[in-house]
Amino acid sequence: MSRHTPVMAVMVAAARKAARGLQRDFGEVENLQVSLKGPANFVTAADKKAEKTIFEELSKARPGYGFLMEEGGVVEGNDKSHRWIIDPLDGTTNFLHSIPHFAISIGLERDGQMVAGVIYNPITDEMFIGEKGQGAFLNDRRIRVAARRELTQGVVACGTPHIGRPGHEVYLTELRSVMNEVAGVRRMGAAALDLAYVAAGRYDAYWEANLQPWDMAAGIVIVREAGGFVSDLNGREDMLGTGGVIAGNDMLRNQLETLLKRARAKG
Ligand code: IPD
Ligand code: CA
Ligand code: CA
Ligand code: CA
Repeated sequence: MSRHTPVMAVMVAAARKAARGLQRDFGEVENLQVSLKGPANFVTAADKKAEKTIFEELSKARPGYGFLMEEGGVVEGNDKSHRWIIDPLDGTTNFLHSIPHFAISIGLERDGQMVAGVIYNPITDEMFIGEKGQGAFLNDRRIRVAARRELTQGVVACGTPHIGRPGHEVYLTELRSVMNEVAGVRRMGAAALDLAYVAAGRYDAYWEANLQPWDMAAGIVIVREAGGFVSDLNGREDMLGTGGVIAGNDMLRNQLETLLKRARAKG
């Protein structure tokens, strides 16, 4: 871990500390307090505990930085140029169903730009990190986006709307046009890990609509540092504002953007 910059060391340590609680509670959901924020929008005591740990660790290490957190919302800091964007448990539905595919996601924004990200799956012990200018890593190994040039050979991940989420019809049109052109489609249920898997070259590309900033913040910098692109669904860079995301390698960018645009025009 010697290659971590001081700020990355802080982020990794906070993720590991919060992960201990998630590891303990995984598979013990019947003993956890679960509440509903909306239809199929669950939050558990584990989400809240993990967020509290991350908040305390980061506040201690970098007093004054602001926060945007899924459960706790906005906490303003005195330092107006730095903000942590945190999803303490991305993939709560998986967690609740004892599916070992979820992650802690911590992103650092400086002057409106994502500059560092950590995505940690506490069950597989996979720590994806990326920092502007420093590259992207999975545990201690450098990672890069996949090099496939043709979508027809690619595996593409996505996120499906569900009860209480808009966009069912648009999504079905997009899915139909993508699945006709690719080797495989995956829907694993944790947006942060979807981006991390693109960075690691496991998925060739990924798209989803109606996300929140904390789902994407860390992943944006990790994918970019792994040599990939991340844009919103209009090909611009307003992912956090629009909630839409497309990620992959540059060679697939046009193919996927065109497919999705054509589908939306039809739908
Ligand atoms: C969810 C997951 C899921 C995505 C949803 C998110 P949560 O986050 O990332 O893959 O499709 O849109 O809300 O609520 O489990 O942190
Ligand atoms: Ca949630
Ligand atoms: Ca999330
Ligand atoms: Ca969450």
